[in-house]
Amino acid sequence: MPVGGFVVGDGQKAYPGKLTPFVLFTCVVAAMGGLIFGYDIGISGGVTSMPSFLRRFFPSVYRKQQEDATTNQYCQYDSPTLTLFTSSLYLAALVSSLVASTVTRKFGRRLSMLFGGILFCAGALINGFAKHVWMLIVGRILLGFGIGFANQVRQVDIIIFLLLLLSVYNDSVPLYLSEMAPYKYRGALNIGFQLSITIGILVAEVLNYFFAKIKGGWGWRLSLGGAVVPALIITLGSLVLPDTPNSMIERGQHEEAKTKLRRIRGVDDVSQEFDDLVAASKESQSIEHPWTNLLRRKYRPHLTMAIMIPFFQQLTGINVIMFYAPVLFNTIGFTTDASLMSAVVTGSVNVAATLVSIYGVDKWGRRFLFLEGGTQMLICQAVVAACIGAKFGVDGTPGELPKWYAIVVVTFICIYVAGFAWSWGPLGWLVPSEIFPLEIRSAAQSITVSVNMIFTFIIAQIFLTMLCHLKFGLFLVFAFFVVVMSIFVYIFLPETKGIPIEEMGQVWRSHWYWSRFVEDGEYGNGLEMGKSSNQGTKRV
Ligand code: BGC
Repeated sequence: MPVGGFVVGDGQKAYPGKLTPFVLFTCVVAAMGGLIFGYDIGISGGVTSMPSFLRRFFPSVYRKQQEDATTNQYCQYDSPTLTLFTSSLYLAALVSSLVASTVTRKFGRRLSMLFGGILFCAGALINGFAKHVWMLIVGRILLGFGIGFANQVRQVDIIIFLLLLLSVYNDSVPLYLSEMAPYKYRGALNIGFQLSITIGILVAEVLNYFFAKIKGGWGWRLSLGGAVVPALIITLGSLVLPDTPNSMIERGQHEEAKTKLRRIRGVDDVSQEFDDLVAASKESQSIEHPWTNLLRRKYRPHLTMAIMIPFFQQLTGINVIMFYAPVLFNTIGFTTDASLMSAVVTGSVNVAATLVSIYGVDKWGRRFLFLEGGTQMLICQAVVAACIGAKFGVDGTPGELPKWYAIVVVTFICIYVAGFAWSWGPLGWLVPSEIFPLEIRSAAQSITVSVNMIFTFIIAQIFLTMLCHLKFGLFLVFAFFVVVMSIFVYIFLPETKGIPIEEMGQVWRSHWYWSRFVEDGEYGNGLEMGKSSNQGTKRV
């Protein structure tokens, strides 16, 4: 067993330590944060398409859907309260992720997690036992608040978990500072969080499929209440897990932090790692005025990416599928059962394609995936628009799709989801997380998260109304944005694959456009370039 911090290949540091139950358990609890987020994304569309749920909470939508044969097919689900049930969560998540980082800094990660877990439990229970629409919305808002808090479990915990799974573990756990993850694997390890989200979505879709079959029509209660399982794991986890050493160091409890570090690592000599953690903490606390910093000319490329990448990610239209797949399939004439089954199919493709991204991101590069995924999405959106337009025209005459037609539509939706899941899905989080230097990291990351949440909210809220008005043309609107974002990537986004985080400045300096903002020597050294490339601290 090596003693003290040492340098392994590619200048990466590793520290002595054992695979302790603490590390494993932390990773499981951390993965729950992604799972529960995914579960909440995937669950709402399924319950919304269950007739018993609609009859109870949204009787006017139910009537339009079931009884009124003359309703324009595109407008069946056009109800602002129905969409608020889905979208409210993202507004709450936005607010809480802004508050949660301050709470975490003051009270530690553990209390933050506990608080998040309790909010999750309360939200899931209120939803599961809901009697009125307001209970549904309040439940979703609580879940949204929980997301901001629970995600204070760092992404890096998942990175450690994946390192373990991939056997890169190697008798030493490269830690808290995720640039210690070998940069050659940085992309793959970072996508771990996205993977847990997609698994959460799939679990929700599978459960919806089975719960919808329950006689008596109360299966939706189990679907919504089911979120209590990961919520309890997070709550109990936060009671059992001790606070993390770096969270203690941030609050000045150095001795306690050292003792804890020894316990976590299972070895006595942790001084090297401890000193590095203290140095990293000092470094990040010495950053003044992160917000004004961000406005400086030399950070123009970063600020642009912090805003444009999450904006474009949502404008791919992916959440139309993730939130409303069953509703969409219902709209185009599938039965409830077939709609829920089709959502399971798209959800499985989402998970599988994320694995492809994990495999390829550090081999083929970010730009290749962005451009390939964009082209794939564009073709599919055009085909789906044409199929739906050909069948329902502009006035949405009600009717069912012939089987072969339905299969074509689902196939193209699956190819579209795959395109997203190996490009904008994971890269929409990975790329911002690897390009921000430390002195602007927290501010820039907050902007990325906020822009993402705001546009997730907007899409969730207006999609069904837009579908009613723009009809099949809605898919062409998203297709237009996919063209714009692909051109943007082609012209403005430099490749970041295989570049150590401390050398990231070079990609802007050598870029035809951004070089005019980032001058030679302006960019920092290794320390300045970001101690922690994790995307999870703020990520929801
Ligand atoms: C996006 C979510 C989306 C999910 C689908 C994430 O990267 O941020 O909005 O629902 O991917 O897998």
